[in-house]
Amino acid sequence: MKLILLGPPGAGKGTQSVELCKRYGVPHISTGDILRQSVKAGLPLGLKAKSYMDKGELVPDEVVIGIVAERLKDKDTEKGFILDGFPRTVKQAIGLDEALKGIRSGIDMVIYFQTSPKVAIERLTGRRVCKNCGFNYHIKNMPPKKEGICDKCGGALYQRPDDNEATVLNRLKVYEDQTKPLVDYYSGKGILKKVSGDLGVNDLFKVLSGLFAEAKLA
Ligand code: AP5
Repeated sequence: MKLILLGPPGAGKGTQSVELCKRYGVPHISTGDILRQSVKAGLPLGLKAKSYMDKGELVPDEVVIGIVAERLKDKDTEKGFILDGFPRTVKQAIGLDEALKGIRSGIDMVIYFQTSPKVAIERLTGRRVCKNCGFNYHIKNMPPKKEGICDKCGGALYQRPDDNEATVLNRLKVYEDQTKPLVDYYSGKGILKKVSGDLGVNDLFKVLSGLFAEAKLA
């Protein structure tokens, strides 16, 4: 199972990736998570990426293509993987095709999470993330049992610096301008499937599991 989850910020790609990876036993490769870990660790990559991320702009293509190309060489990706938040430009998609050529066959399916901007804005501005384990909550849709505290590990919850309304609006604009053209790119390759990102978490998970069963990916 080699999948790409494509869709605007707040579509629920990260939330579904975590559950899908648990169910199907493949690694979750999120360029956003890799970049945030580099920022937290004070690595040169993080220092370079932070100014773009804080503004809701894309980190340069060559940087992210390099990260993913290296990650795909790891042994745990042999049985498959889920790419979340990558590719985000046509140049990145071409870079991915190149990287896969050398090591294994191409992408099986690209899932396009169609999501209304209103839903995305509400989800992102209400998102809270555990500082310790990275688990995502939402103040209304998925609140923790105890306010500000992670149910899983007891860590403190925080709001991502790019989840304020002004930056979210820019992220949505960047998505429309630079990432949405990938819908046509993958549609042209005949591997794009559309789902509604506006569905609830469990309903969307059922739709996705049905798609994989139908395509005999699971
Ligand atoms: P990244 O971390 O990838 O952020 P994003 O694409 O903006 O995606 P999000 O994590 O915001 O949304 P999501 O769809 O995963 O939603 P989630 O499941 O978390 O990227 C951050 C930055 O890094 C970029 O702006 C850029 O600077 C840089 N970057 C990363 N990749 C790059 C690349 N390839 N190229 C260049 N730069 C790159 O859910 C959101 C909220 O909604 C949560 O609170 C969740 O609990 C809730 N929720 C989720 N699903 C549902 C549902 N079905 N119903 C109700 N609530 C839900």
